[in-house]
Amino acid sequence: MTELSVIGISKRFAGVRALNDVSLDFPGGAVTALMGENGAGKSTLIKIMSGDYLPDEGEILFDGEPFKLHTPADARQAGIRVIPQEPEIVPHVSVAENVYLGALPRRAGRGLDRAALNRRVRADLERLGFERVISPDTLGSRLTPAQRQIVEILRALTSDAKVIAFDEPTSSLSEHEVEALFTLIRRLREEGLAVVYVSHRLQEIFQLADRIAVLRDGGLVGVRDASETDENEIVRMMVGRDLSAMFARDHSATDKVVLEVDGVTSDDVRDISFNVNAGEVVALAGLVGAGRSELAGALVGDLPIRSGQVRVDGRRVRLRQPSDAVRAGMGYAPEERKAQALLLERSVRDNTSLVVLDRLRRFRFVRRAEERKLVREYVDRLNVRTPNIEHEVRKLSGGNQQKVVLARWLARKPKLLILDEPTRGIDVGAKAEIYHLIDDLARSGVAVLVISSELPEVLGLADRVIVMQNGHITGELDRADASEEAILGLAMAEDLTTSLSEGQE
Ligand SMILES: Nc1ncnc2c1ncn2[C@@H]1O[C@H](COP(=O)(O)OP(=O)(O)OP(=O)(O)O)[C@@H](O)[C@H]1O
Ligand SMILES: [Mg+2]
Repeated sequence: MTELSVIGISKRFAGVRALNDVSLDFPGGAVTALMGENGAGKSTLIKIMSGDYLPDEGEILFDGEPFKLHTPADARQAGIRVIPQEPEIVPHVSVAENVYLGALPRRAGRGLDRAALNRRVRADLERLGFERVISPDTLGSRLTPAQRQIVEILRALTSDAKVIAFDEPTSSLSEHEVEALFTLIRRLREEGLAVVYVSHRLQEIFQLADRIAVLRDGGLVGVRDASETDENEIVRMMVGRDLSAMFARDHSATDKVVLEVDGVTSDDVRDISFNVNAGEVVALAGLVGAGRSELAGALVGDLPIRSGQVRVDGRRVRLRQPSDAVRAGMGYAPEERKAQALLLERSVRDNTSLVVLDRLRRFRFVRRAEERKLVREYVDRLNVRTPNIEHEVRKLSGGNQQKVVLARWLARKPKLLILDEPTRGIDVGAKAEIYHLIDDLARSGVAVLVISSELPEVLGLADRVIVMQNGHITGELDRADASEEAILGLAMAEDLTTSLSEGQE
């Protein structure tokens, strides 16, 4: 059976030691999980295996033989495939063409044989159990993040892979898609592939992995059999200490209403009404696709509101563009942080202080010393791994980029803060710190609205849970009544009703 080994791998970037003398085996027929804090070196190791980066030192063995890996083409030819965090998709061609890019079936003397191609891709999708999730003739530009991942997985599997690496594949998938992906990964393992799996979700790791390798600051801390370890040990290996309490609850909601949403209807949500009070943390729960992010988009002037009203501190806000929301005292960290929110070529300092500059100004000048102090404070609290605050954001690891957007809004302390999936892609230590910061903000009187698909996070953070399905609110739970079962019941309420009534027919 195939075995890929990396031996003594080191990699430096200007000023950063990303990997330091890492040796690790990836046996066929097993899922090896890579874990570690944001910036620990996981993606760098995977990019070395895919030929995207050349190591400064060390070698790679394939089935015991030294293997020259100079370019991504070398890796593909050897059967090493990586599903990246952000797959590259050609926007103006179909899913089917995206999958078979460069190997399209042609009819003699004529162009592309589209019918044959669609049949082939439809068969691939059925084999993998994804036929209901994506259709072969959808245009690349119309794909959701989940569907982009699936295209990339199809590309890998239709090209005789022996080693397949997933870098945080589930962070944008719905529950249904995660199940399909896990079934697929287990099948790949049975077929003898070596699977490499990176995720910050411990639960997933223990469902899926046979072996767990932990990286810290670019070095390998150790490898454990999944059956012989537990979450506590892995967390200790990752962060080098025991974590204190994940959640803090030191705030209590006041009865001063900050946000009033009254019958808001947009293209994607209908008749939404609820309030959030000062000092209160409200969670918006629901399945992926329930309309939570679309609601947030409407509340912050990103998506048009068709009818209904939004009031902040009792005053009606006309939301024509995002700056209207900011002026009314709202802060918003979107789900697609990198695309929607970051200036990648600019520094950590610029990105963090972006929305507090108005407060740091004295006459026309920004008080730089204060700016640096504020940025450093939040960079430290969120443990953003960066050599210094002048470092370009594009050079940070995925999770550290996420933290920068959060630091920006946490530092601003708006009246109302809307956080969409605030801990997606973020390591367990920084997660705890973000929960503590949210609690701090609520204690200082900020109204917080959190969208989260992670139920433990919803239950740990929220004073009140509002559940959505199909674009509208299906129920509301107080902290005392909120449980995973109660939330899921409301999140799937209509599916249950329909399947019941279908059963009676
Ligand atoms: N192209 C690059 N230029 C400069 N520094 C880089 C580059 N790529 C990675 N680094 C640095 O190397 C270190 C390891 O980054 P890597 O992306 O491997 O982390 P990771 O473990 O995947 O983290 P995350 O969980 O946040 O995705 C980080 O300090 C990062 O800033
Ligand atoms: Mg990464």
